Amino acid sequence: MISEDRKMKEALNREFARQFGPMDGVGIYFAPGRVNLIGEHTDYNGGHVFPCALTIGTYAAARKRNDRKLRFYSMNFPDEGVYESSLDDLVPDEKYGWTNYPKGVIFTFIKRNHIIDCGMDIVIFGNIPNGSGLSSSASLEILTGFILRDLFGFGMDNIELALIGQDSENSYNGVSCGIMDQFASAMGREDQAIFLDTVDLSYEYVPLNLKGMKLVIANTNKKHKLADSAYNERRRECEKALKDLQKAVNIRQLGDLTCQEFEQYKDAISDPVCRKRAKHAVYENQRTIEAVKILKSGDIYRFGQLMKEAHISVSRDYQVTGPELDTLAEEAWKIPGCLGSRMTGGGFGGCTVSIVKDEAVEEFKERVGAAYLKKIGYPADFYILEAGGGPRIVKQRKIKDEDRKEI
Ligand code: GLA
Repeated sequence: MISEDRKMKEALNREFARQFGPMDGVGIYFAPGRVNLIGEHTDYNGGHVFPCALTIGTYAAARKRNDRKLRFYSMNFPDEGVYESSLDDLVPDEKYGWTNYPKGVIFTFIKRNHIIDCGMDIVIFGNIPNGSGLSSSASLEILTGFILRDLFGFGMDNIELALIGQDSENSYNGVSCGIMDQFASAMGREDQAIFLDTVDLSYEYVPLNLKGMKLVIANTNKKHKLADSAYNERRRECEKALKDLQKAVNIRQLGDLTCQEFEQYKDAISDPVCRKRAKHAVYENQRTIEAVKILKSGDIYRFGQLMKEAHISVSRDYQVTGPELDTLAEEAWKIPGCLGSRMTGGGFGGCTVSIVKDEAVEEFKERVGAAYLKKIGYPADFYILEAGGGPRIVKQRKIKDEDRKEI
């Protein structure tokens, strides 16, 4: 990881100097991506989630300017060149491409009365595969918030950074996401997952203890676009189900129900599709609570079985998987050294996460990879990943604020 930091830092130093000139006052920062172990599509239904931050994520070199210009360059999208904009032009627009994410965060800081009185030059370099569903956008949001906090000396904590990130994604970028991704990125801890109650944001770190096992991520390489996919539609279906249920039982969100209560009241939901969506939300929440209890007791095998049940539920009832994710999960279940496998994130593409015994990892990659290629027609990618910490300063900026006018 240290060597990855060094590599990314050196690359960013070089690119920043090339794009924006001398390096005085430049800080280098990092915020992680995330993988969710269990608890999918529960975070906007008043349920629990169990993600961890990853050791991969997004890096940036950033410094203040002495005017109101905002200049962004991404080493992941070199063909797009430098995006130039200003603090007076914080309006979402497709022409600003990926910079709508950092701009959304800047906009949200200002909306919340944090004073940002000068522009910035920022170069980004991420090592999360694009569009993999490992939250490159949430990591970019947390990274931007973290940079603003450092450059402008704001005092908010990391949970506030997560809420700002979610707010910016909801209101600036038009995706009605829950809090999971931003929370996981902002609050990550090495070798631990985060058991989060999305109702009141109470949380607990749970050690992963994957001795002799690896977290294997398999990427469908199918691009998914949360914003124009069925994500927002799923939210609406759950809201509709909740409204119907509230006529029969006094609840505030789907996560308030146990599975038994759901079975008792489910007929109040008039639309059968909405009923299926709500069933997933309720059962998945209860499954997540149980899974964490089981993991704490050390029964990783049972935890793996619950991962499988969770996948079946998002596939059949929530219908956010598709042949690519289903093939990866179903092929994984056939490998004896694989304890559990399920899709992770919003769905419709992206990745599965599997717990695989060390000695079975190669077999897993070969067999799942071959079956996927045969059925889907193009290859999947595999990564071995670890739970990592939250955002951090990789290289402290050197000058004091009052010196910046001399840049
Ligand atoms: C996306 C969203 C999250 C969450 C997951 C599904 O990653 O950003 O808030 O809803 O999908 O669990």
